[in-house]
Amino acid sequence: MGQGLLTDGFTRAGGPLACEGVPLAAIADAVGTPAYVYSAGTVRARLAALEAVLAGVPHRVHYALKANGTHGVLQVLRAAGAGADVVSGGELYRARRAGFAPSDIVFDGPGKSADELREAIRAGVRVINLESQGEAELVAALAADEGRVVPVGLRVNPEVTVENFHAYISTGEAGDKFGIPLDDAFGVAAWVAGRPSLRLVGLHMHVGSQLDTLGAFDEAVAKLAALLARLRAELPATAATLTLLDLGGGLPVAYGDGDRGADLEAYGEVVRRAHARTGCEILLEPGRLLVAEAGVLLTRVRYRKRSGGRDYVIVDAGMNDLIRPPLYDAFHAIEAVAPGEAALVASVVGPVCESGDFFGHGRPLPPVAPGDLIVLRTAGAYGSVMSSNYNARPRAAEVLVDGDRYAVVRRRESYEDLMRLENESPTWRSA
Ligand code: LLP
Repeated sequence: MGQGLLTDGFTRAGGPLACEGVPLAAIADAVGTPAYVYSAGTVRARLAALEAVLAGVPHRVHYALKANGTHGVLQVLRAAGAGADVVSGGELYRARRAGFAPSDIVFDGPGKSADELREAIRAGVRVINLESQGEAELVAALAADEGRVVPVGLRVNPEVTVENFHAYISTGEAGDKFGIPLDDAFGVAAWVAGRPSLRLVGLHMHVGSQLDTLGAFDEAVAKLAALLARLRAELPATAATLTLLDLGGGLPVAYGDGDRGADLEAYGEVVRRAHARTGCEILLEPGRLLVAEAGVLLTRVRYRKRSGGRDYVIVDAGMNDLIRPPLYDAFHAIEAVAPGEAALVASVVGPVCESGDFFGHGRPLPPVAPGDLIVLRTAGAYGSVMSSNYNARPRAAEVLVDGDRYAVVRRRESYEDLMRLENESPTWRSA
C-alpha cells in the first residue's frame, strides 16, 4: 500500500490551496508569514494507517518527538493513542506537559546526561535505552541511589548498510556513534543482568531515517532476534525479563522527488515477523511518517529578480525556518497557493545572507509576484524543531488546523523574545 491512498490534508479542488477546511490565504492574512501549518486530520490518518497494518501484533507506537515537538501536535498524537519516544530531558519535559504518562515514554539518545537520566528514573519512564557500558554503569548507580529497579534496554548497532538519501541520517552501520557494537552487546547485557538496580527488559535499534528499502531493516531485526535468543539461552535470568523489542523509526514519506513513501503493508509484515521470531512486544518509534506530510511552511514572495539568466523568487521564510534543503540537500515540493499554470522555472530562496539559504533550484511555478503565497510541502517533520534565530530572525508561528477551524499553537516570536535570555547588564564575577 502506498500513502497515495491517504489524504494529506492539503487540497485545492481547482482553487487556492487549503488545509482541510481552511484556506491557507486566510491563515496567512490572520497570522502572517512565514508560518508552519499542520493538518490534525492527517496526523491522525497516518497513525491510524500504521496501526491498521499492525493489527494483531502486540506493539506500541511511541511517536519520536524529535520530528515535531510542538505542544499542539503532541496533544493530537496523545489523544489519538500514541506513546512518546524522547531523546533529552527537554523532550521528556515536553512529553509530560503534553500529558503522556511516564509509562508511555521511552528514553533514547547516545549521550544522555546524569541529570536527564535521573529525571527519567524519577518520572518512571517505561524503558531507558542504553547506548554504552559507561551509560549502563551510570544508570545502575543512579538507580541504586534512588532506591529503584530501572527497566533498561540496550540499543544495539546491528551493523547493516541502509539505503536513504543522506549519510547524516543513517545510524546503524558499523562504526556509527549510535548504539552498542554488535560484538560487545552480549557482554554489556551480562553486566546489566547482574545489577540489582537494573532490569534488562529489551533490545533496541534504529538503523536510520527515510529508509528507502526494508532489506537492511529486516536484516537488523534478524540480528537482534539472534542476540535475544542467545541472551535468553546463556543468561537464563534474562529469559523472563526480556519482553520488548524496539525497532526505532525510519519509515519514509514521499517528498515528491520520485521517492516512494512507506510500503506500510511490507513494514507490517517485518514487524509481524519480528514478533513471531522473538515473542516480544514490539515498540516502534516513527517520527517523520506521522507528521511530515501533515505540515507545510507557508511563506510569501517578497521579490522577484533575474541574475545570470536565472529567475529568483525571494520569499520571507529562510534557512533558519527550514534547514533541510541546505543541510541534507533535501527536496521539498514548492507550490503556489493560488492556482496557475507553471510559467516560470525559478530558484526559490530566502532572505538570509548565505548562499545556502535556498529551498529549491529549477522549480516550475506559476508567474508569482511579490505578495503571493507559496508553500513548501512535507515540512511537518524536522522543520520547526530544527529552526533557529539565525540572522536574528524571530521563529515562525505554528498553526494547527482541525476541520474548518484553526488555532495558533505557537505564536510568532517577537524581537523581545530574541533578547529574552540575555543579560544586558551582566554581573561580572571572578573565579
Ligand atoms: N528513534 C530514534 C532513536 C531516532 O534517532 C530517530 C530519528 C527516530 C526514532 C525517528 O526517526 P523517523 O521515523 O523520523 O525516521 N533531521 C533529519 C532526520 C534525523 C532523524 C534522527 N533520528 C531529517 O530532517 O531528515
